[in-house]
Amino acid sequence: MSSLRDEIKKLREDFTKGTLNDTAVNPDPFQQFELWLSQAVEAKIPEVQAVTLSTVSPEGKPASRIVYIREFENNQFWVYTNYNSRKAKDMLQNPNISLTFFWPDLERQIRIEGTVKKADKEKSDTYFKNRPRESQLGAWASNQSGVLKNREELETAVETIRNKFEGKDVPRPEFWGGFEITATYYEFWQGRKSRLHDRISYSNEKGNWIIKRLAP
Ligand SMILES: Cc1cc2nc3c(=O)[nH]c(=O)nc-3n(C[C@H](O)[C@H](O)[C@H](O)COP(=O)(O)O)c2cc1C
Repeated sequence: MSSLRDEIKKLREDFTKGTLNDTAVNPDPFQQFELWLSQAVEAKIPEVQAVTLSTVSPEGKPASRIVYIREFENNQFWVYTNYNSRKAKDMLQNPNISLTFFWPDLERQIRIEGTVKKADKEKSDTYFKNRPRESQLGAWASNQSGVLKNREELETAVETIRNKFEGKDVPRPEFWGGFEITATYYEFWQGRKSRLHDRISYSNEKGNWIIKRLAP
């Protein structure tokens, strides 16, 4: 175990793959996001659509977990989840959230902050309709973030739902759907040598994106 601790302490990667210049970035952060996302797809970053979503409870307690970004358009991002889950309860009471992408092979991090609201029902319906049937059944069967007695309880719930919808389309449960995130802040981070990283932030002031370079 002490060798594990020594090993972790010793890990020290120098980042050398790229640079980021405040005069060369796109003046529109969403376009800069799309550029980096397309480069991450090209680089075959695994689970490129996975992002850390951080929420805050009404009491001010933060919590983070990975979700998938499913759609993105014009400073808006959509994620899908159970409306009774811990994250949904947080977001329904406190709309302030953040998203963090980390793409190690490109030595890049993107931080996004913004506000969130429930997606339109039609959007959630369309997304749900296109999910694989097993995922649709899973959405019905899992009371996400609730406590289970054991694994069997979950599997029995899936079987019950499977029987209920046998031979029929699986409708979207009212308690499952999308959240629409509107970005008001972005930060693009490119790892550089000796911890002297490039950080370029965009904050929205009265409808204009203001670009700043931040100290690493
Ligand atoms: C790669 C990955 C992708 C995930 N995508 C989603 C997702 O799109 N929606 C979701 O509700 N949970 C997703 N999860 C599960 C969440 O991380 C989390 O366990 C779950 O949503 C419950 O979180 P909560 O109790 O904070 O609400 C994903 C987990 C991983 C590791």
